[in-house]
Amino acid sequence: MKHLLSAADLSRDDALQILDTATQMHEVQHREVKKLPALRGRTVVNLFFEDSTRTRSSFEIAGKWLSADVINVSAKGSSVSKGESLRDTVMTVAAMGVDGLVIRHHASGAPQQVAQWVDAMVVNAGDGMHEHPTQALLDAYTMQQRLGDLDGKHVAIVGDLTHSRVVRSNLILLKTLRAHVTLVAPPTLMPSGIADWAKAEGFDTSYDLDGVLPHVDAAMMLRVQKERMSGGYFPTPREYTVGYGLTRQRLKVLPEHAVICHPGPMNRGLEITADAADEARSLILDQVSAGVAVRMSVLYHLLASSSEGVQK
Ligand code: CP
Repeated sequence: MKHLLSAADLSRDDALQILDTATQMHEVQHREVKKLPALRGRTVVNLFFEDSTRTRSSFEIAGKWLSADVINVSAKGSSVSKGESLRDTVMTVAAMGVDGLVIRHHASGAPQQVAQWVDAMVVNAGDGMHEHPTQALLDAYTMQQRLGDLDGKHVAIVGDLTHSRVVRSNLILLKTLRAHVTLVAPPTLMPSGIADWAKAEGFDTSYDLDGVLPHVDAAMMLRVQKERMSGGYFPTPREYTVGYGLTRQRLKVLPEHAVICHPGPMNRGLEITADAADEARSLILDQVSAGVAVRMSVLYHLLASSSEGVQK
């Protein structure tokens, strides 16, 4: 595997290997001295055309802890704001001799296009409403840490399925890992393309969160992406929370062993209340922490030239 553009690039063996290496990277993350020499002499550029807190920071930390030289370029503050095209920007950065490009872009398919232009390794850090494969890997890693092997586990993915790149990558990866998924959303945020795909893969769909929650091992709440709903959104925020928010009342029907995930950033009080976000079953900050370990693992597998194991 040269690039990571989609969760579909990962065979079951690839996914399990990345998750296994992430466990070792997580140990490194908790050491006093965190650096590994694996990517010494390699240069990784984080090229972000859309805002990010978690993904960009964790890729930067991941690269640095693997001893790579990491450069951040964002649309704001670069020549993109002067009108430079994606191709010219990418070719300019590539001409400096980089080994890896981590790219987030508002256009679905942009990382796939970039991978055709450059020799460097390309990782998709979120493209439009398409995919976010490292988010799915860190979600799987976090759930697996608490629930054990995801084979046969039941994950409900709840919320704004229309605009979510997280749901697409999660559906693909959770199928690879043999988990069962139920997609839950109001009809207006359940696009037929995703619902049909999910059903064809043997997954379930539902408009009834209260009927699904008592039967899950994990509830993955998705952000309502208001910035992608220029015409306003339906249901209204109040109706959305009543029908699909993870509220104090709904926590009572969530099984004791079940976990709560959210990729962030959260709309507290809309798709998830503070009671749910901050309670013991919530893994939201564990997901952030896992993001570093998983991205270290991804960079390691794609860029480290040596086939030796992770040095302890
Ligand atoms: N989950 C996620 O991609 O968060 P950021 O937009 O902060 O990177």
